Amino acid sequence: MTITGRIHNFGAGPAVLPLEVVEECRKSLPNLNNSGFGLLEISHRSKTFQNIVDSSMEKLRRILSIPEDYTVLYLQGGASLQFYMSALNLLRENEKVDFLVTGVWSQKALKEASRIGDASARWDDSENGFRSIPSNEDYSVRDNSLYLHYTSNNTLFGTQFHHLPESNGKPRVLDASSDIMGVPLDVSSHDLIYAGAQKNLGPSGVTVVILSPWAMQRVPSDLPTMLDYSVHSSKGSLFNTPNTFGIFVLDKVFSWIENNGGLEGAITRNKAKSNLLYQELDRTDFWLPHANKECRSVMNVTWRLPSVELEEKFLKESLDAGLGGLKGHRSVGGIRASLYNGCPIESVEALVTFMRDFEKSNNR
Ligand SMILES: Cc1ncc(COP(=O)(O)O)c(C=O)c1O
Repeated sequence: MTITGRIHNFGAGPAVLPLEVVEECRKSLPNLNNSGFGLLEISHRSKTFQNIVDSSMEKLRRILSIPEDYTVLYLQGGASLQFYMSALNLLRENEKVDFLVTGVWSQKALKEASRIGDASARWDDSENGFRSIPSNEDYSVRDNSLYLHYTSNNTLFGTQFHHLPESNGKPRVLDASSDIMGVPLDVSSHDLIYAGAQKNLGPSGVTVVILSPWAMQRVPSDLPTMLDYSVHSSKGSLFNTPNTFGIFVLDKVFSWIENNGGLEGAITRNKAKSNLLYQELDRTDFWLPHANKECRSVMNVTWRLPSVELEEKFLKESLDAGLGGLKGHRSVGGIRASLYNGCPIESVEALVTFMRDFEKSNNR
């Protein structure tokens, strides 16, 4: 059966998934893997579901080359819970941590960590409209800081680290929510990585957390149960009822990634998509890209038009042309195209074709 009426979806998350994966969900709804139980109706304690957890984690470890002694968890509460939970598990009241504030999400992470210890912004681009990413010379990590926290991709403003930030030998804690498995990532250079799944990995409701042995050793013994990484680790992420549907989708997305060239394949496709769009943005002064060139995101491309009226016209006409989810975040305005793993190059080609026509008719 063909699926008609699906839009070219550029939404920032929950985001488009590979159609194959969506089809697999549909097939599994009444009867999952011939178990007789439907996908949304099966116990998380069943063998059928345990196999899905195991196989998805194996694939995740393979795709990201996660070191064997690292712990991988599937949690709930989104990346927003990890802002606090990561600090709660790693940091103590009298300790310091350093943050690179490249956008609203890192501001929020800093605020939550401040509830636990002395969290300080060592670099903050808020006055510049979050257009850039610091180079290693632009900040210093304090000698007595416990770790450096950064956000690899700034989903709202469309900037991204294209290098591993210098941390003065301190552990790195990374919010990789909007570029995990879409760009190169050296897991072994980090001690804690967290990412909400709903952009590159699957649906909302699952957060992937990756922890080094150092991070696991930092976990205090007296935390509230559900906020304690060691509790979730000791139960293989099944301490309480997990998002079973979400984990199923992750497993299918990971298979799709592995069948399509693994991480390298995803990186190549994402580069090709973003290059195509940035080429169009650089073709004419009509488009006003938000991010500084060297900091441009491969995952979220942001730009303005000469007036708010033209932006509204662009959004209306693009939607009429079958291109959805392009409205920029309210804190930036303008247009944002999210080009996550599930977004096919054909969608970007359709967007660029639309943009050329729009520019021709509206550039005076
Ligand atoms: C980089 C980044 N961090 C954190 C979040 C918050 O994620 P959640 O809504 O899963 O809590 C988002 C959501 O878009 C994000 O893009």
